[in-house]
Amino acid sequence: MQILDGKITSQAIKDSIKEKVAVLTAAGKRTPHLAAILVGNSGASETYVASKVKTCAEIGFDSTLKRFNDAISEIELLNTIHDLNTDDSIDGILVQLPLPKHIAEDKVIEAIIPDKDVDGFHPVSLGRMVAGLPSFIPATPYGILLMLEHYKIETKGLHAVVIGRSNIVGKPMSILLSRNTYPGNCTVTTCHSATKNLKEICLQADIIVAALGRPEFVKADMVKEGAIVIDVGITRVPDAMKKSGFAIKGDVDFAEVSPKCSYITPVPGGVGLMTIAGLMMNTYNAYMKRNK
Ligand code: GUN
Repeated sequence: MQILDGKITSQAIKDSIKEKVAVLTAAGKRTPHLAAILVGNSGASETYVASKVKTCAEIGFDSTLKRFNDAISEIELLNTIHDLNTDDSIDGILVQLPLPKHIAEDKVIEAIIPDKDVDGFHPVSLGRMVAGLPSFIPATPYGILLMLEHYKIETKGLHAVVIGRSNIVGKPMSILLSRNTYPGNCTVTTCHSATKNLKEICLQADIIVAALGRPEFVKADMVKEGAIVIDVGITRVPDAMKKSGFAIKGDVDFAEVSPKCSYITPVPGGVGLMTIAGLMMNTYNAYMKRNK
């Protein structure tokens, strides 16, 4: 069993972007600039956005964090996005999800111009991705592809079972793994809450991508010997032993499942770090496209 190490892999990607940014700086060019919007004060969202901003600084990107409280109106948020769309110094815009219930997420996602849609959530980005055209790929699936690539894992002809069908992870992941590219070329089964015989389907999987958001859901009796297991779950569960008061759990029961795997991603230290690497790659690519 080999651990797919998100720390090592994301660091390699960040180092390569950092080198490219240094070249831009040496040539007197401006640096890529990411704008992040955070609404409300969810602890998890705060942590994710703080990591994204910190990573920008590490690799030499500029970043702008716009924070709003829960009471912001939809129109105010849309106006903020409009200002960022038309600001030439901004290359990428992300709005951390989820948003408060009174704000329509689809309207917000569609307000970001596709050229700055570094989260890859805009229907134009998703449509281009489905058509196999160059596009921003949602950061988590993109990070997973980068991870498979980094470890040179052959995926052609494998049966991939994706558990989860969210717009952010499950749906794009299924499409990407079925594309006729590397990594990809898999036979893909998408499973979700209405799937019958989930265990039997998982037992046929050469690759399992667990993205359902239920801590330690995937157990050893659902996994074939030698399978590649990618754990997308990041759930906070109460833990009195931790200073923070919570532990981070994946969707896979790592202790049980890992001995059966050829490769497995840990939580924390796996896909979460790769999501940030994917976002940074998208932001760099947005900069390059806008400055061509
Ligand atoms: N919420 C959970 N995952 C993500 C993500 O990748 N991007 C944004 N913007 N919000 C999220």
